[in-house]
Amino acid sequence: MTMQDKTIIVIGAGGGMGSAVVSLLLEEGANVVGCDVNTKPLTNFKTNDRFFEYEGNILEEELVRKVFKETFNRYGSIEGLANVLGIAQGATSIEDCTLEDYRKIMDINMTTVFLTCREAASYMKKQKQGKIVNVGSVSTTRPRSGIQSYVASKGAVESFSKALALELAPYSINVNVLHPGPTDTSMLGQFSKRGANIDTTKKEVFEKSVPLGRLLKPVDIAQSVKFLLSEDTDMVTGAVLHVDGGRNI
Ligand SMILES: NC(=O)c1ccc[n+]([C@@H]2O[C@H](COP(=O)([O-])OP(=O)(O)OC[C@H]3O[C@@H](n4cnc5c(N)ncnc54)[C@H](O)[C@@H]3O)[C@@H](O)[C@H]2O)c1
Repeated sequence: MTMQDKTIIVIGAGGGMGSAVVSLLLEEGANVVGCDVNTKPLTNFKTNDRFFEYEGNILEEELVRKVFKETFNRYGSIEGLANVLGIAQGATSIEDCTLEDYRKIMDINMTTVFLTCREAASYMKKQKQGKIVNVGSVSTTRPRSGIQSYVASKGAVESFSKALALELAPYSINVNVLHPGPTDTSMLGQFSKRGANIDTTKKEVFEKSVPLGRLLKPVDIAQSVKFLLSEDTDMVTGAVLHVDGGRNI
């Protein structure tokens, strides 16, 4: 399962999972283009000549166009797109969730997926080949109280990905969803109720909810993202892969 010379765009590359995805894909020989509003965590990759980064808000249509156009011009093809970006919602009752909060969550978790998949499709269709992986969340099947808008945004990612898988199948483009369980990144603590102790919540709530007995590590997610981007999954599309230590059961 090699990624040698494949060109993959990773959105949310500076995050806990995103940087693990970048690291693994580079190890496997891919050309990696990482995009994030904050690319500081990617400093270590900057000396790698197969790594290129864009810092900016991926909700900006012009930036999305530029990333894909320049990547295609640089490498001549775009084999994969991994959407690993997102924001959490602090657990709150629906009355305390403002319309602005709701829209921000939907925009960052779903509109970005629409914008990047639309751009990816326009290149991959011409190539008649491509792999798209959109990261959702186990909370779509096992919601927690108080994160209603986050769960809705991730449910939209799942439905959108399945519909797109069907639409792009005639072009040999695979679109799959990966639903992570509780993963030890800085995002996990952000799902806590305001004022709750983050370390205690991680241990007592999140870790205990995983049947396999530990929090996921970013590399656990990265390995499955790589799998879904590889030729080993040429006949897998519209699928939902739960990488969650059994949390969805
Ligand atoms: N950590 C968990 O427990 C968990 C569980 C289930 C699902 N997820 C999902 O996994 C994905 C990765 O999460 P993570 O834990 O690595 O979180 P993270 O906060 O470490 O990473 C998310 C990254 O997305 C980037 N980002 C946010 N908005 C952006 C924008 N508009 N443009 C460009 N970049 C933007 C952030 O800067 C950040 O680097 C997210 O979609 C998240 O919802 C996480």
